[in-house]
Amino acid sequence: MDSIIVTGNGPLKGQIPIAGAKNACLTLMPATLLSEEPLTLTNAPRLSDIKTMTTLLQSLGAEVSQLQDGQVIAMSSHDLDNHTAHYDIVRKMRASNLVLGPMLARLGQAIVSLPGGCAIGARPMDLHITALEALGAEIELKDGYLHAKAKGGGLKGAVHELRFASVGATENFVMAATLAKGTSVLKNAAREPEIVDLVRCLQKMGAQIDGEGTDTITIQGVDRLHGATHPVVTDRIELGTYMIAPAIAGGEVECLGGKLELVQAFAEKLDAAGISVEETDKGLKVARRNGRVRAVDVKTEVFPGFPTDLQAQMMALMCTAEGTATLDETIFENRFMHAPELSRMGAEIEVHGGQAKVHGVERLKGAPVMATDLRASVSLILAGLAAEGETRVSRVYHLDRGYENVVSKLRSVGAKIERVKEE
Ligand code: EPU
Repeated sequence: MDSIIVTGNGPLKGQIPIAGAKNACLTLMPATLLSEEPLTLTNAPRLSDIKTMTTLLQSLGAEVSQLQDGQVIAMSSHDLDNHTAHYDIVRKMRASNLVLGPMLARLGQAIVSLPGGCAIGARPMDLHITALEALGAEIELKDGYLHAKAKGGGLKGAVHELRFASVGATENFVMAATLAKGTSVLKNAAREPEIVDLVRCLQKMGAQIDGEGTDTITIQGVDRLHGATHPVVTDRIELGTYMIAPAIAGGEVECLGGKLELVQAFAEKLDAAGISVEETDKGLKVARRNGRVRAVDVKTEVFPGFPTDLQAQMMALMCTAEGTATLDETIFENRFMHAPELSRMGAEIEVHGGQAKVHGVERLKGAPVMATDLRASVSLILAGLAAEGETRVSRVYHLDRGYENVVSKLRSVGAKIERVKEE
């Protein structure tokens, strides 16, 4: 298992290119199952989660190949010879559940292992199940697998309202409804940019969809979808992560490909903390020129609110802020596992249920720390950039799920960081 060693080394300067979004790519890939014709994604990120989705789609009979060093994913689901998504693959990644809607729509049946709980919370599937049942699916849980069948041989359009604007349940419903008979309306739909990106791609494939990016999405079912080529939207979470780098270490970094509309709520908090964020013709330029950042309170919310996937990184920033910041996590019930690790570096954090109070300290100190999940891992690296001495982050395989080339990207702006093999 590898570790990453970061040594706090003063201000950063330069440019960091932002990759295509992991969470968009993980929903765009299963969309291949909806069509017999090829689907090609460009601007794909090179991540272990993408490899897991590749293995899953291949296990269902899809052809998937990575071209141009992984930045292009060419897929064809002409012949699907299996409709079971096995536990061995699904357990590695929750997003595996996104094959359920497309398989039901195209094949009229699907058997998908329950993804199970994960470190950040229970993450049940009830919203996915009721949404697909509304479209006429019969779903039964047997031996840890969801057995789903379209009643009467095919899905039928329906009006459904989500109890909570779940990203994954919205994606499964929209994909399934593209091939259902008649019109479907999803109310209280999630509005995340990854959903807008999925809909744009489905539209290129011939789907009739309106209202993406609002809380009501209307889908007019069609008989078949065709092939398409689609560029994956910029990763707003990778973008926000690298925007924190100069905020915490000092200096100025231009995040290439970054757009304010993807991170508006987050950028407003950086601004309130005293960090300048400026749109350029190439991306977003972020700078901390003088003094400590100010403490700001943050509450995670569904889009367009402050994203839960940037909460750990914001906590790292608040550790050295002037004053006390209150962070409320409303999306996942157990997403403060980075707090005890940051405390090992001298941070002063109190956690009570879904709320953390961070009392800023003047300087963090390097320490051995452990990555517990994807966003927690990167928050420890960010903290290491601002700490005195060496921070060794172990279990960085979590990081490989969602950040490509993190070491070379941070090195290119002057950070002292290396990846080492652990005995
Ligand atoms: N939920 C239910 N029942 C369901 C589905 C969700 O109770 O059937 C709950 C979850 O337990 C959670 C909340 O609803 O408490 C939000 O879950 P949601 O379904 O919106 O999230 P997701 O689709 O499972 C995606 C991202 C996550 C991101 C969340 C929230 C992907 C592959 N994953 O997950 O990304 O945190 O939306 O924005 O798109 C990450 O990248 O680090 C990550 C965890």
